[in-house]
Amino acid sequence: MDSLPNRLEGKVAIVTGGASGIGESTVRLFTKYGAKVVIADVQDDLGVALCNDLVSESGDNVIYVHCDVTQESDVKNAVDTAVSKFGKLDIMFNNAGIPGNLDFKILESDSENFKRVFEVNTFGSFLGAKHAARVMIPARRGVILFTSSSASVVSGESPHSYTVSKHAVVGLMKNLCVELGQYGIRVNCISPGSVSTPLLTNAMGLEKAAVDDILCAASVLKEVVPTAEDIAEAAVYLGSDASKFVSGINLVVDGAYSTTNPTYTKIIKQTFEALGKKT
Ligand SMILES: NC(=O)c1ccc[n+]([C@@H]2O[C@H](COP(=O)([O-])OP(=O)(O)OC[C@H]3O[C@@H](n4cnc5c(N)ncnc54)[C@H](O)[C@@H]3O)[C@@H](O)[C@H]2O)c1
Repeated sequence: MDSLPNRLEGKVAIVTGGASGIGESTVRLFTKYGAKVVIADVQDDLGVALCNDLVSESGDNVIYVHCDVTQESDVKNAVDTAVSKFGKLDIMFNNAGIPGNLDFKILESDSENFKRVFEVNTFGSFLGAKHAARVMIPARRGVILFTSSSASVVSGESPHSYTVSKHAVVGLMKNLCVELGQYGIRVNCISPGSVSTPLLTNAMGLEKAAVDDILCAASVLKEVVPTAEDIAEAAVYLGSDASKFVSGINLVVDGAYSTTNPTYTKIIKQTFEALGKKT
């Protein structure tokens, strides 16, 4: 039961990486809750299809723009399009990201891959924030959101390039919330735990159902399958006026995964089992 159906009524949002996964779920929820949305992505076919789907449901409140977040002219165009089409920009969700190569060992890590991951995940977020601030500062309002990752709080489970890029996003968010607070602009991060979007299923090379099984088995919080929509709900909260005094946080949405390190207990269990002792 949805108690606040119009919680984004009158808001104008851009969602980068809006054609797939967490971005797509966010676009769907934002429009459901009354926002006008610019979908910004490089996957034009998916973006246009999503746009058409939503336009048939919610009218002329959604548009798609091709936007490579690493290209400043594309990001500038996405922001200018939001303002020219819908009159303003209230929420800039810098969500586009890539996992990069699964290089877990520094000696085997590809340097060009490192730069590319940083370029999309961090520099792309910087450009989104910069151009959003350009129109939000004179308006003296707005919300800048970033998708970081639980890799910003859990170490050793993601490639170095990805982990560094997502830590940097949190650093950018923290610096920016201080600079932009004087203009009434809130700046926050969402750090999802693993959810079975195309990013993760492709990286694992497994079907969604198999990935969900792994995530549920590894999860601290049981009886729930994590979804992209769970992350999108956090974006709705941080984008809405319900969070009007919330700025400078990294909201980790991972079912408590990052609060624990089960390694010690696991090794004790294994050792006791090997010794035939009761655990
Ligand atoms: N899925 C997870 O488990 C997970 C966990 C933590 C963080 N994240 C982060 O969530 C965000 C969304 O990822 P997702 O899981 O929904 O993956 P996804 O692959 O389904 O969606 C990512 C979207 O970003 C777009 N994109 C990639 N490079 C781009 C560029 N240069 N310019 C514009 N768009 C670009 C892709 O086309 C795609 O539509 C990413 O920042 C990712 O790092 C995902």
